[in-house]
This record gives sequence, C-alpha cells and structure tokens, in this order.
Amino acid sequence: MRTRTTKRCIGILTAGGDCPGLNAAIRAVAKSAHHHGIQVIGFMDGFRGLVENRSMLLEDRVVSGILTHGGTLLGTSRDKPHKMNMGGKVMDMTNVAVANAKRLQLECLVCLGGNGTQKNAWQLHKNAGLDVLTLPKTIDNDVAMTDISFGFDTALSIATEAIDRLHTTATSHHRIIVCELMGHAAGWLALGAGIAGGADVILIPEIPYDIHEVVDFILTRRHSGKRFSIIAMAEGALSVKEAAALAKTDVRAPAAAKKKNQAKAESANGEEGGHLMIREPKVNRLARELQELTGIEARTTSLGHVQRGGTPTPTDRLLCTRLGTTAGELLASRHFNVMVGVKGDACVPVPLDEVAGVVRRVPAGHEWLHAAARVGTCLGIHGVE
Ligand code: F6P
Repeated sequence: MRTRTTKRCIGILTAGGDCPGLNAAIRAVAKSAHHHGIQVIGFMDGFRGLVENRSMLLEDRVVSGILTHGGTLLGTSRDKPHKMNMGGKVMDMTNVAVANAKRLQLECLVCLGGNGTQKNAWQLHKNAGLDVLTLPKTIDNDVAMTDISFGFDTALSIATEAIDRLHTTATSHHRIIVCELMGHAAGWLALGAGIAGGADVILIPEIPYDIHEVVDFILTRRHSGKRFSIIAMAEGALSVKEAAALAKTDVRAPAAAKKKNQAKAESANGEEGGHLMIREPKVNRLARELQELTGIEARTTSLGHVQRGGTPTPTDRLLCTRLGTTAGELLASRHFNVMVGVKGDACVPVPLDEVAGVVRRVPAGHEWLHAAARVGTCLGIHGVE
C-alpha cells in the first residue's frame, strides 16, 4: 500500500485494553511526525494488524477531528506477536511482524499500551531487532517509570462521579453499597476515586483486607448516626485469607497453581463434572458477607467498561498531546527503544527495559494512603497509614 518514496516512515499501533485518549495520542504522534516530514502507517487491532499486514496511511486529514473521540480509530487487541492464535493454533509470529515492518521500510514502531504492550514492544526490539518507541496508556495507572499514564484521569473522573451518585441512594435507603472498580494488580483507580468520591472503605490489591475490620468500622459508623457506607473495591482486592492462600500456591508450585487457577477460571460459569457452576463474583460475596455480619442491607455496583468509555478529560487530552508530540521529537532525532514517561512537569524518554515486565503498584506508606487514613477512611486492615 505504501508508494515507494524517499520519505522517512514509522508505524503506530494501539494494543491491550482501550481507553479514552488513544485517538488524541495517535493524532499528536502523527501530526508531529508529519511536521518533521515523516509518514505514519497505522496498524489495525494491535500487533495482530502488523502480523496480518492490515494497515492504513495516517494522513493529516485522517487524524484531524479525533482529539475528543473515545476508543481508538485503529482498533486494539490483546494479541502478542510471540504467542498469537492463528486460526486455533498458537504460534510465534515475531518474524512475520518484523518482516512486515521491514517491507514497509518502517524506521520505528510506535506502540501505545499498558504493561503487556510495553513488554511486547521491548521483546520485538530485544529478540528481533525492531526499533520501537512506546507511550504509557492504562486506566490502571500501573505502568512503571512514569508518574501517570493516559486514560487514568478520565477513568478517575467517571469512577468518582459514580461514587458520588451512590452516596445519595445509599443514604436514602441506609444501605451499604460495594462499588467495584477496575484494577487487577494495582489499586490506583479505586484508591484515587475512593478518596475523591469520599468512599468510607477503600479496598485495593496491595492491602489484603480483614472482613472483621470492615464490619467493625461499618458498625461504628452506624452507632455514631451514619446510616450508610460506601465501599470502593478494586477488582483485584483480596481478603487476608485469600492473599495467604495465593502466596502459598505462588511460592510452592507456581506453574501447577497457574494451571489449576486457569482451569478454575475456565470452568466458572460453565460445565464442571457435568454440573453447571456459577461462581459468585467477589464483589457480591463481600456485600453478602457484610450484610450477614452487620445486619445492614447491602447492594453492589460494578462500573466495568464504563470506566474505559467515552471522551477523554481535558487533562488526558493535554497529556496525550504532550506525550505524542514528545514522541514526534524523539522519532525525528531517531531516539528509539524508549518509553515517553512523565517525570514531574516534563515528558521524558525512559529506558524501555526498565519499564517492561514491571507493575507499578501502590507502595506502602504512599501519600494517598496517608491522606485517606487521615480523613478516617478504612483501608481494610488496622494500622495502614
Ligand atoms: O485496561 C486495563 C483493564 O482495564 C483492567 O483494569 C481490567 O481488569 C481489564 O483491563 C479488563 O480487560 P478486558 O476489557 O480485556 O476485559
């Protein structure tokens, strides 16, 4: 599709879960690349489009008017080049991906994504010599070596508004409402939205919770005249018991445990030994246990993909434009194999090998935890500050 030209050329793709701001970032990368006389080819549906050679030329008119649009005009997928399902068979497609990039004479592949994407991009460079450049995208805000990832601010706004709205209905009915937020490995979104929305209890994956601590907290609130409680729960939050069980299986037999967990997950809501199994979602179980132990009626709300939908906030649009144009400058000067991260007030290149494979979790003693504790929020266990 690319007409032979002496023009410099780069590729771009969006991979992993989508989020608001991807189009704003594509626009910024493309416009600043164009400014430097570099042509931009967009690959469809993440790394799969590169392997299957499905692409489009991102001319100026294509990337105009998309700043405010949610989702990604390129489409996305969770496919990995080194482990791709090709018609039912899982294959290593790294060589095909690199050959396609070479055929199009791409100098560099710009990858917009979260932790999985950072790792996949780094492997394409390390194992197959393809020059890459990445931007940090995720509503989970858990990409390493950057103060913030784009998409987080928008998700934070959506989740905070949801928690605000739950307050009025919880108050009217004197209920407990458990609100489940995204975040399997890191609790930034639940913690941030919980603080901003004034949740009474915040449960995150980094701090295993004691159900009795939560029950005591809710009962104390009730006795002091506060007749409702809002709980912001990250989807990866675990009880102390669950965390201990997981730690045991992880240490003793990681591979076997993984297999077993996977089988369990696959059989959930499906057939197991001829019986239909319906596993109770974590958030429902917590609400049920709290209702039983406190005697207070409990309800649940799962925000799910609403948190990843719609138009990006002004803060995300600004961040995407800053990250994308910094990427454009780096491409112009052939500064590849880095991620553009945010450090304080600046967008700076950071070593991709230090990003790949690292999850940025909420560290013990983080200022947000301290702030939450100081305003009287229960963090699920005694003594967290
Ligand atoms: O984008 C990251 C994330 O939002 C996680 O917090 C969440 O667990 C996951 O994506 C859901 O992914 P999917 O849309 O593939 O179900």
